Amino acid sequence: MRSPRDFFKAKVVGAPEPLREIPVRPSRMIHFFDPSNEKMAVKVPDIAKNVDIMLGNLEDAVPIDRKEAAREGLVKIGKNVNFGDTQLWTRVNSLDSPWFLDDLIRLVGEIGNKLDVIMLPKVQGPWDIYFADQLLAQLEAKYNVKKPLMLHAILETALGVANVDDIANASPRMQGMSLGPADLAASRRMKTTRVGGGHPDYLVRTDPDPKNPDAPRPTAQQDLWHYTIGKMVDACTSVGALAFYGPFGDIADLTACEDQFRNAYLMGCVGTWTLHPNQIAIAKRVFSPKAEEVAWAKRVVEAMPDGSGAVMIDGKMQDDATWKQCKVVLNLAQLIASRDAEYKALYGF
Ligand code: GLV
Ligand code: MG
Repeated sequence: MRSPRDFFKAKVVGAPEPLREIPVRPSRMIHFFDPSNEKMAVKVPDIAKNVDIMLGNLEDAVPIDRKEAAREGLVKIGKNVNFGDTQLWTRVNSLDSPWFLDDLIRLVGEIGNKLDVIMLPKVQGPWDIYFADQLLAQLEAKYNVKKPLMLHAILETALGVANVDDIANASPRMQGMSLGPADLAASRRMKTTRVGGGHPDYLVRTDPDPKNPDAPRPTAQQDLWHYTIGKMVDACTSVGALAFYGPFGDIADLTACEDQFRNAYLMGCVGTWTLHPNQIAIAKRVFSPKAEEVAWAKRVVEAMPDGSGAVMIDGKMQDDATWKQCKVVLNLAQLIASRDAEYKALYGF
């Protein structure tokens, strides 16, 4: 086991020292774009003004014959576009692909000081993070990168889920994780062919009525992703990292998309992927606390200035623990208001 004393030392002479705290910025949506697609690339500066994170995707959905064009397209965009305070992320190809090494060399070499986070797909265990961590330190030293690049793992293999805690603890670079429901379904031999969301056959049914056994028995659809999101949220939050929902593939079904995003928000995720501009407004609405929740949280915190003791507000018991719950909502609202004037006004900050 590595000595804990070394955990925050640079792994390569000349590389920046690892961060002690994970940078927490508004991260309601990670908006994916294909940098090899010229039509999409020209829209990047405008879309970037309206999202918290722009992500240049090099992995799945980019055809093999456009892998290099996507990589070079992202280099160009990274160099030429002013992202202001919008984060710039990338999803590189997986560690077992023939593109991973050049993805990292080109991106860190050319735009290492502009990138915030590198998303690693198909992470299987902490060994994948150790490898990427060491290689990044080499590249940061070689290309004079000033602040450490952060890593974000996609949870999308059965082995990755089994190792999720060790992945979260593998490096101070671990910024967070996203659920990858499509690859994960395949890896686990789940029988859904959808990208995220529910499935009408995954349900529970009420017992038959003994007096009327043939009467219809109401059913309720269950959430296929609840278990994995719960594991991911615990693994991430226990090390201060951030958990995200991933893709929702049915672009036309905005209602189910909103439901899936909201379940993830309520369970502890800070944001989600958006694959289409239609999903951006949904993510913004869902991952920003509602104005009435913020007003309630303010009331509780004001009624218990030092966060101790017990008070009753509108018939509801408040104590140290509910104060902390309210602080979560309030802190998130303040973070979002610091970037988003519309929400600042809505919250009355
Ligand atoms: C995302 O990459 C997924 O596989 O769902
Ligand atoms: Mg995937």
